[in-house]
Amino acid sequence: MARLPDDYLRRLQDSADIVDLFSAYTEVKKRGRTYVCRCPFHSEKTPSCTIYPDSQSFYCFGCGAGGSVFTFIQKTENVGFMDAVQILAQRSGIPMPQQDPEEQRSSALRRRCLEINREAANLYYLNLIKGPDRAGLQYFAGRKLRPETIKQYGLGFAPDDWHFLRDQLRAKGYTEDEMVAAGVCRRSEKGGVYDYFRNRVMFPIIDLRGSVIAFGGRVLDDSKPKYLNTNDTPVFQKGSNLFSLNFAKNAASKKFLLAEGYMDVIALNQAGFPNAVATLGTAITEEQARIISHYADEVIISYDSDAAGQTATQRAMQHFSAVGLPVRILHMEGAKDPDEYIKKYGADQFRLLIDSAGDAVNFRLDRCKEGLDLSTEIGKNELLRRSVRVLAELTNPLEREVYIKRTAQALDIRVEVLQAQVDKAVESGKRFAKKAKFRAIEAQSLQRDELNPDAQQFPKESKAERQILAYLLRYPEEYEMLWAAVRPEDFATDLHRRVYEAICELLPEHPQFSLTMLEDQFTVKEMGYIYGIEAKYKEVDLPRDTLEECIAVLKNRQSSAVGDITEDELLRAIENRRNNG
Ligand code: UTP
Ligand code: MN
Repeated sequence: MARLPDDYLRRLQDSADIVDLFSAYTEVKKRGRTYVCRCPFHSEKTPSCTIYPDSQSFYCFGCGAGGSVFTFIQKTENVGFMDAVQILAQRSGIPMPQQDPEEQRSSALRRRCLEINREAANLYYLNLIKGPDRAGLQYFAGRKLRPETIKQYGLGFAPDDWHFLRDQLRAKGYTEDEMVAAGVCRRSEKGGVYDYFRNRVMFPIIDLRGSVIAFGGRVLDDSKPKYLNTNDTPVFQKGSNLFSLNFAKNAASKKFLLAEGYMDVIALNQAGFPNAVATLGTAITEEQARIISHYADEVIISYDSDAAGQTATQRAMQHFSAVGLPVRILHMEGAKDPDEYIKKYGADQFRLLIDSAGDAVNFRLDRCKEGLDLSTEIGKNELLRRSVRVLAELTNPLEREVYIKRTAQALDIRVEVLQAQVDKAVESGKRFAKKAKFRAIEAQSLQRDELNPDAQQFPKESKAERQILAYLLRYPEEYEMLWAAVRPEDFATDLHRRVYEAICELLPEHPQFSLTMLEDQFTVKEMGYIYGIEAKYKEVDLPRDTLEECIAVLKNRQSSAVGDITEDELLRAIENRRNNG
């Protein structure tokens, strides 16, 4: 990939305030010259992510994520480096310079995919409203959707025709490859191209910028599969988008409703609850929970009342708790989902349901009873055991006390007895947490070794190399001295060697060197690792003595491998001796 000019990247980097970027995602606290926050890239209760405004970079000591403003955008928006640059360029209004041909091609394809999706949505909509086959409109009318709702969501109808879309898109100048890439058409084994969605009512998926990025399509009857969804494409990933978030994000209420189905969300919207979203045909991911947490301050899980819905609720709760968003759980009786409930009992009744939605703890305590015969001792004991486990997980002591009292009453046992059991469970939980933390640290160093596998064979050298790199990053003006003393060949591990080489190559021409300049030569993970080296040594002294010891470690390795010495080195060594002697 051709590089973008460094001064352009630098300008862009400086114009984006990294502290600002983080603040949109997580609470940021000033600590001296740096800032700390809870890491947006993994789940944690105490902040271990440090932001360095001076170098516009960050590093999380908990999960090893680290990087620049570009890395931050790459990770939060789930895009590549060039896209991150583009997003920042748009935000700051600093236009991009010419791109290289390959990048141009892939961003051109993305643009074409978006155009195709928009065209398709429009064609489906027109066909719904004006097409000869009224089946789609009849279907929506049967589901009590008003015309405004249909228009607001841009709902449509794909006719029972294999080439409806293909032919019209072709006439508009789109190629078959582009249609397939956009996910609206498929290629048959014989090579022909046909419409993916046929005889289905269509739900466009719209992203936060208002672009149509995908579709869900529902059959008109009870045939299977009920819904078809666009597979992942260059402009769409199921697990990182949410249906109707484009409306919900502007809703006055920051209490989001999370439903299972497209129809639920639309029915909710029509009934006056614009703050509803749904996932796109898959169980909710932690990433989606995190996205919701950026816009909502509470989420009310409104999944189906059947067993599957309740199990899904439990899993969703875990994701929300991981991202620190409070949840409540809607308890619906007499209807299977919000759509049906509203139709049966009306919007006002649904609002009451929201108000009375219980918190997550009650939901979990309730679920403890599941499958138990409470008329037997065994059943009662198991219920007690499960309840203790839930109660012990509550970190707020006040909250714990409230629920312990309530549970003791419900189970008809003395508060002190329950309290003692919970205390015991909390203690053993702490030991477990310590172990988990230890395992996490182990996992991180394992990941480190995965990025730089040679480190296992050369632990001593690897450590020395990290310190040399840290020194170089701290005192870039001394690179000439370093370069004279250590050559890339002296490095024992491949990743460190590449980093050293790359930095030394850039430094002479770039007095304004920053790690960002490496971002097109290293993967996001590698960049995290490199930022980690910088961050981890930030707080410690790097005296010249230590540096020299580190260099000696590498040099000794070399000299002990006599057989490897090159003719050049031999000549140099003789030259040296002659000069000294
Ligand atoms: P539901 O079956 O609960 O759908 O699936 P629904 O939205 O209530 O549909 P109606 O009311 O029967 O029209 C919930 C969601 O799961 C996904 C869809 O996103 C749907 O909205 N789903 C369901 C699929 O992706 N494929 C399927 O075959 C079924
Ligand atoms: Mn439904």
